[in-house]
Amino acid sequence: PPIFSLGYHQCRWNYRDEADVYAVHAKFEELDYPYDVLWLDIEHTDGKRYFTWDSNTFPHPVEMQKTLSDQGRRMVTIVDPHIKRDDNYYIHKEATAKGLYVKDRIGSKDYDGWCWPGSSSYLDFTSEHVRSWWADQFAYDRYAGSTPSLFTWNDMNEPSVFNGPEVSMQKDLRNLAGVEHREWHNLYGLLFQGATASGLVRRNAGGNVRPFVLSRSFFAGSQKYGAIWTGDNKAEWSHLAAAAPMLLSLNVGALSFVGADVGGFFGDPDAELMTRWMQAGSYQPFFRGHAHHDSKRREPWMFGEETMIRLRKAAIARYALLPFWYTVFYDAWQTGMPVMRTMWMQYPRTEELFPVDDQYLIGSDLLVKPIAAPGVTETSILFPSSDTWYDVDTLQVISAQGKADGVVSMKVASNIDKIPVYQRGGSVIPRKLRLRRSSRLMKSDPYTLYVALDSDQAAEGILYMDDEETFEHERNASFGIAKFVASFEGGDSFIYNKVTLGAGWADQAVGERMLERIVVMGVKKRPKQIQLVGSASIDFEFDATANVAVLKKPGVNVLSDWKLRILY
Ligand code: GLC
Repeated sequence: PPIFSLGYHQCRWNYRDEADVYAVHAKFEELDYPYDVLWLDIEHTDGKRYFTWDSNTFPHPVEMQKTLSDQGRRMVTIVDPHIKRDDNYYIHKEATAKGLYVKDRIGSKDYDGWCWPGSSSYLDFTSEHVRSWWADQFAYDRYAGSTPSLFTWNDMNEPSVFNGPEVSMQKDLRNLAGVEHREWHNLYGLLFQGATASGLVRRNAGGNVRPFVLSRSFFAGSQKYGAIWTGDNKAEWSHLAAAAPMLLSLNVGALSFVGADVGGFFGDPDAELMTRWMQAGSYQPFFRGHAHHDSKRREPWMFGEETMIRLRKAAIARYALLPFWYTVFYDAWQTGMPVMRTMWMQYPRTEELFPVDDQYLIGSDLLVKPIAAPGVTETSILFPSSDTWYDVDTLQVISAQGKADGVVSMKVASNIDKIPVYQRGGSVIPRKLRLRRSSRLMKSDPYTLYVALDSDQAAEGILYMDDEETFEHERNASFGIAKFVASFEGGDSFIYNKVTLGAGWADQAVGERMLERIVVMGVKKRPKQIQLVGSASIDFEFDATANVAVLKKPGVNVLSDWKLRILY
């Protein structure tokens, strides 16, 4: 995914008009509250005719997108697959004339079903020809009022038909090839999302910008096209509790970029539920707040100052970890290993972990336990005992390595200010710590490495980098992978970086990727000196009670090879 899509998304059915959009955007700015994307639901259209704008409420969509884009934000509009049967609507006119719709059971007339716009027809996305036509509708001159900072939300693509059996299509309807709906029902959503994604690629000359499309329906392979969310949940604790197991199930199926509506779609979360949901969402792959139109406004500042600060803290933690999320997504792309992992996937010989679905791992190195009940002040966590685990807030060991293939059950404090998150000993996690209001502003910010030593006083980890938005990493090998290796035991103690630089990575970009700090957890004794090999000594602090060493301004970047020697 382009990195912006891993940031926070603010959605609601509906942001009413341009003034509403500007007001919400301005409030995020004013509060220094990081977010990347503002979303518009079906009401932004002219009578649920997708690819159009309501001219009363959204008269200047280009200017609106430009204003947000100038301040580092994107927008998303909803585009559903049912097309309003209105002879004056250009999409419907052309789809009818070209014969692009799913047919009735005889195969003669265009199928007519009921959805948001009322009487609607459904494009036959099983046809390559229809998919290509659909992709062309995203061209800037075709989708009036769209700009390069606008991306897409594909909903109701099961496909949803209000007056159909099981709220979908009759199983005996025919596609353009004469094949019954029952044969391609499960593929419809995937093919629709795929066609939309190619439209977003095609609209830019050279097709070099990565698309972003959110879909509700999915199938094996949907991970190639974008993100998935789990649909219309409720603002209830049980629905927050269900989010992690649902997202883990999707991840077991290799669908990594998934999320549940933060806050719960229907109903009104109170401050505590909203806080716990935002905290959970900040550690789930797709992170979007959304709400039904009957629910009260619930932007992060609607619950008072104290809650806003807590929600913002969760968002800030998310943004600090963007380099890590991006790297874990790189790993998923390379290996197919899911981003959000069940415990058993990482510890397949530890039977106690097989039924666990209320705590999970991001990649292999962060263990997260979302709090999904009211009034919680402590919670139990099962730590795999073959690893050491550090609390990411205190940087202290919470569970030390013990026997192989076992677990340690620990009670940990988890009041409303605490998200229980732990780093695995033996790992290196990159963060960017400057407070910024969007991912774009973080692009050339320096990194801080969090090195968590294992029981052998060693750790390693990678950091994947590219331009964060185009296909240059594939086309011209414009990527860089830093591999950090640390050992703090014995005479030859060191931290080094070994870089794999793709041929297309521009030289000047290398210098921009500075390392400003290295935080090392679990250091047993105070080093005498830390030296950059071939250069000067490095300033560091050591806290002997906490066993934490902080190396300051090592004067290196993450895209060059270097070695720091630790002298005792
Ligand atoms: C569906 C979607 C929901 C959206 C609504 C209106 O219920 O799941 O997210 O807000 O339609 O488009």
